[in-house]
Amino acid sequence: MQNNPYLSGNYAPVKDELEMRNLKIIGEIPKDLTGIYMRNDPNPAFTPISYTYPLDFVFHFANAYENDNEIIIDYVRHETGDFFVKDIDEREMFPMLYRTIININSGTIKHTQLDDRVVEFPRIKEDYDTLSHQFIYTTTRTTDMAASQGFNAIIKYDVKNKSSQIHEFGQHAQVGEPVFALGSTQQSEDGGYLMLFVYDAISEQSEFVILDAKNFGDLPLARIKMPRRVPSGFHGSWMPGEWVW
Ligand SMILES: [Fe+2]
Repeated sequence: MQNNPYLSGNYAPVKDELEMRNLKIIGEIPKDLTGIYMRNDPNPAFTPISYTYPLDFVFHFANAYENDNEIIIDYVRHETGDFFVKDIDEREMFPMLYRTIININSGTIKHTQLDDRVVEFPRIKEDYDTLSHQFIYTTTRTTDMAASQGFNAIIKYDVKNKSSQIHEFGQHAQVGEPVFALGSTQQSEDGGYLMLFVYDAISEQSEFVILDAKNFGDLPLARIKMPRRVPSGFHGSWMPGEWVW
């Protein structure tokens, strides 16, 4: 760290958490101003570790966590990122679920392909961000890629037991990212709901679908008919609680 001018001297990370009062003030703080100013910036208390290795291309990571001297990273790997610079036939793109394990003592890296199906938009129950997770939810295709206009199913991966379940919405369906929503009564990792938009290219109608994440293969708990087609999107979030607009 001492060799890095941006991490030493007056630029060194602050390791102490302090509560300080009676700081010198020039001028006057407005009397009607109360609150907390949050700075959200890096404070690298440890020397950053970097590894260079051919990863090809990743849009979306599912999660990453530490386990003893290892960092486990689950993500969707694309064979190439060249689609940013040249036209590539979609059929040449086969993004799949991978796990990379970095041993932070030895620096060794191991990549494992977890499945050979085309997937994207990996999500987990967000309570498990940076913690050891068991379940990952992704979109996938069950039809021939050339005949498909997108994903038509979602997968629930159990990465601890190396198993998976698929929930298919029909040959002509186009599904979006499955977003995990926590109900008020569920505690387990797959206790909760998956929500996604499903468009049917034959009826040209969209539905907002709610699945029971634990009973993933069951019929949807609810299919909410949208008044018109909802365009395909990328990401969504569930905001729990009552919201007044
Ligand atoms: Fe994205």
